[in-house]
Amino acid sequence: MNNQQNPKAIIVIFGATGDLAKRKLFPSIYRLYQNGKIDDDFAVIGLARRPWTNEILRDNVEQSIKETNASKSDVDKFTSHFYYQSFDVTEASSYQGLNDLMQELEGMYNTNGNRIFYLAMAPEFFGTIAVNLKDYCLEMSSGWSRLVIEKPFGHDLPSARALNSQIREAFDEDQIYRIDHYLGKEMVQNIEVIRFANGIFEHLWNNRFISNIQITSSESLGVEERARYYDHSGATRDMVQNHMLQMVALLAMEPPIKLTTDEIRSEKIKVLRALRPIDDSEVDENFVRGQYGSGHLHGKDVQSYRGETDELKDSHTETYVAGKVMIDNYRWAGVPFYIRTGKRMAEKSTNIVVEFKDIPMNLYSEDDGNKNPNLLVINIQPNEGITLFLNAKKAGHGSAAQPIQLSYNNNGVHGINTPEAYEKLLYDCMLGDATNFTHWDEVAFSWAYIDAILNAWSRRTPDFPNYTSGSMGPKEADDLLAKDGFHWWPIRDVVQ
Ligand code: BG6
Repeated sequence: MNNQQNPKAIIVIFGATGDLAKRKLFPSIYRLYQNGKIDDDFAVIGLARRPWTNEILRDNVEQSIKETNASKSDVDKFTSHFYYQSFDVTEASSYQGLNDLMQELEGMYNTNGNRIFYLAMAPEFFGTIAVNLKDYCLEMSSGWSRLVIEKPFGHDLPSARALNSQIREAFDEDQIYRIDHYLGKEMVQNIEVIRFANGIFEHLWNNRFISNIQITSSESLGVEERARYYDHSGATRDMVQNHMLQMVALLAMEPPIKLTTDEIRSEKIKVLRALRPIDDSEVDENFVRGQYGSGHLHGKDVQSYRGETDELKDSHTETYVAGKVMIDNYRWAGVPFYIRTGKRMAEKSTNIVVEFKDIPMNLYSEDDGNKNPNLLVINIQPNEGITLFLNAKKAGHGSAAQPIQLSYNNNGVHGINTPEAYEKLLYDCMLGDATNFTHWDEVAFSWAYIDAILNAWSRRTPDFPNYTSGSMGPKEADDLLAKDGFHWWPIRDVVQ
């Protein structure tokens, strides 16, 4: 890892006219600039098909950072670092032009020949771009070159493998930064610290003391304008293959022997390798898929997934998935990790509930005889913090117990937004720190795990829609836990 404080680089964005660039990348680069993390030694080259000019790109960048209320002169100074080139990803001349522009800018800005190629566009071109970059843009560079690649990384394991080998023709594994923006979230990064910096948790963090772990990432939004992408993806590819399994890995990994990229990644890889494969005949017992019907959410009537656009009217794509993930290793044998994620659910919230087993002989219950397990709740978003649910004596006569909470809240320090995650990840990439990016082995094991589920599902037509917009998903997702004697901890209880 390079510890240089103000990294210098040219950032080339493929897909500069797109949504990701506008919503996440430009604001993130601006914040790095504003916070002094990058200095004047940078330039951004925006590439896309449209016949834009530098001025049009700069106007767009200005629009995308207008919420920061920066002064006009600051904005002008910042946007002057942006250059646009109209680009055809299949045309050699485009890459030659890009190389010429990079060399020209390297003369103007003191970037030491360092280059980041950020692929923020349709994944079908990822391979072509990598191969062309190798032919036209990598050899002449005197600094480092890194490739940042957005998801989806393939559609299944075979396509991910094919893509990976194309990319590897041009870039080594340690030059490839596969983005999973959940890994940039403050509280996702905090999982490791909460676990490994606290004796009171880590000693209990295993199958002797934990009964189950629940990870929920619910969204109240529907499919929005992404019907085409989403309908080919579905919730499992969109959220489980990456974000949800990454959280499982962080919760389940062994302590790394050092805080280095390789050590941390290798512990995560071991978890993903130990995921119990789901046999075709066991899929329905362990995984539930759903698609939202119409309903009522935040005071408004909302339509079903199939009603969102014409192209979705016969869709069998899942917008919800819940599953029981088992990890076959010494620490976790027998402990279910329940995951669930979906669109048009009651609330936007991501949280983790670690439920501890009861003690061998607990004589203390609430007045009604109810006993409450200890829970450790990690709130990822919108609130950021942790809450520990304990039992204490109910004031007054007798020895009845009542649940109490110890909470730490990070609210106000960081908001819900992902630009912060992107900002951190982009900076990590500039510094050469790949810890919070996914290694190929993580990607491959995750695909192998979910491919089995998707293959089984593809052979059976689901009975959709099966959950109402504004609910927490289909009833079968509750049954999944009920059969094991558990229940989902309601969001309202765990999010404080
Ligand atoms: C993205 C998915 O990776 O994550 C989206 O493609 C989803 O469908 C988003 O909405 C959720 O991210 P966040 O940060 O809002 O929880």
